[in-house]
Amino acid sequence: MKKLFVQTYGCQMNLADSEEMAAHLFARGYTLTDNLDQADLALINTCTVRDHAEHRALSFLGRLRQWKRENPQRKIIFAGCAAQRLGEKLKKTFPFLDLVSGARDIDHFAQLLDDSGLFTAQPGAPVTAQTITGYVTIMRGCDFKCTYCIVPSVRGPIHCLPSADIVQRAAQKAAKGCPEIMLLGQTVNAWHEKGKTFADLLNEVSAQPGVQRVRFVSPHPAFITPAFLAAVENNPKIARHIHLPAQSGSTKVLQEMKRGYTREILLEKIAALKARGFAISTDLIVGFPTETENDFQQTLSLVEEAGFSAAYCFKYSPRQGTPAAQMTLLPEKTLEQRLDVLLNKVKGLAEAAYTQQIGSPVEVLMESANKGRTSDNFWVQTTRSYPVGTRVVSEVTAAEGTLLFTRD
Ligand code: SAH
Ligand code: SF4
Ligand code: F3S
Repeated sequence: MKKLFVQTYGCQMNLADSEEMAAHLFARGYTLTDNLDQADLALINTCTVRDHAEHRALSFLGRLRQWKRENPQRKIIFAGCAAQRLGEKLKKTFPFLDLVSGARDIDHFAQLLDDSGLFTAQPGAPVTAQTITGYVTIMRGCDFKCTYCIVPSVRGPIHCLPSADIVQRAAQKAAKGCPEIMLLGQTVNAWHEKGKTFADLLNEVSAQPGVQRVRFVSPHPAFITPAFLAAVENNPKIARHIHLPAQSGSTKVLQEMKRGYTREILLEKIAALKARGFAISTDLIVGFPTETENDFQQTLSLVEEAGFSAAYCFKYSPRQGTPAAQMTLLPEKTLEQRLDVLLNKVKGLAEAAYTQQIGSPVEVLMESANKGRTSDNFWVQTTRSYPVGTRVVSEVTAAEGTLLFTRD
C-alpha cells in the first residue's frame, strides 16, 4: 500500500480541503502516514495570506528536493492558495514538482489527478485521525475587497454549497462520531440560499441526530444582524463563541481597509453578542500602511473595550496585487514594536477571561479522556476521566494560564 504524507498550512478551510484531497488519494490506493521518510507521495496544501505563510510552504517544498532524490519514484503535489497565486511557474523553480493544484481547483481535483496520468484508481485505507469535530465547508471564496487581503484573488468570488448537501454531510459526520460540527467558509455567514439564511442553516444542522454543538468560522461582522441574533439565541447547540475578526480599532484605518464597519458599529455588534452569552475572539493587524500611533492606540483600547477572550495578532504583510501593496510601508521596527505591545496586552486578557470563570458552572464536551471545551471555547481539564464525546457538567475550581480545572 502506498503512503501519503500531508502537510497543511493556513486556515481551517485548508484543513478541510486537505481532508477532501486526501479522500481522492485514498481512492487511488494511498493510505496516510505521518512519517515523511516512509511516504511515497507528499501533499502540501499552502497558504499565502501573509508572505511568511507562503515562505514556509516554499521552504518545505525546497527540502523535498533531497527527499525525492533519495527515491525518484516519490511524488509531490503542491496545492492551495500559494499554488493558486504562483501557478505553473513553480515548476520552473522546482522542476521535481509533479502536480500543482490551486485552491480554485479543489472541485475538480479528482479530474486533475486522473489527467496527470500519475495515479490509478484502486481502493486504499483511509486512516484519518478521529476528532470530535467534523468540518463541513459551506461556501468558498469571498466577495469583499479588503485592501490588504489576497484571499479574494486566490479563492475567487463566493459560491455557496446547497443546504441539502451541507445538512447531509453534517449528519454523516455526526453519525461517524463527530458530536461537534464546524461549518467553514472565508465569510461563512455570507452563506445564503433562496429562502434560507445562514441562521436557518445553523438551526437545521444542529437538529441532525447526534449533533451536540455547531461552530462556524470565519464570520464577517457585516452579517451579525439583529435578525441573525434573534434566530440563534434560543438554540443552545450553537456554540457561544464567535471568532469575529476586527482587524483594527480605528474607524479611519477600517475605512482604508474597506472593512465596511466603524469602530462604533463593531462595538455595538460585540455588545449584542456578549449580551447573549457569546465569548468573542478576534484577528488584529498592526502596521497597516496608514496606521498612525493614534490609530494603533485605538486598536489597544478596542481590545480593552471589547473584552476579547483571545486575539490573533499579525504584522501587516504587503500582498502583491492588493490595493494596500501600492502604499508606502511603515518602518519594520514600528511594526515589530506595535506587535510586541499588542501581544502583551492580549496575553493578559486571555488569562483574565479564564480566571473569571472560577466558581462558575460549565458544560464540557470531552475531546480526550481528561480534556474538553465549553460552548464558549474555554479549555477545561476534568478531575475524572470520561469517554470522548461525553458532556460533563461541573464547576470550575481553578484556572491556570489558559486552562480551567473542574470539581468532577
Ligand atoms: N475572512 C476572514 C479572514 C481571512 S484571513 C475575515 O474577513 O475576517 C485571516 C486573517 O489574516 C485576517 O483576519 C487578517 O487578520 C489576517 N490577514 C489577512 N491579510 C493580511 C495581510 N496582508 N497582512 C497581515 N495579516 C493579514
Ligand atoms: Fe480577506 Fe476581507 Fe474577504 Fe476576509 S472578508 S477573506 S479579510 S477580503
Ligand atoms: Fe491562507 Fe488561503 Fe486560508 S490564503 S488563510 S489558506 S484561504
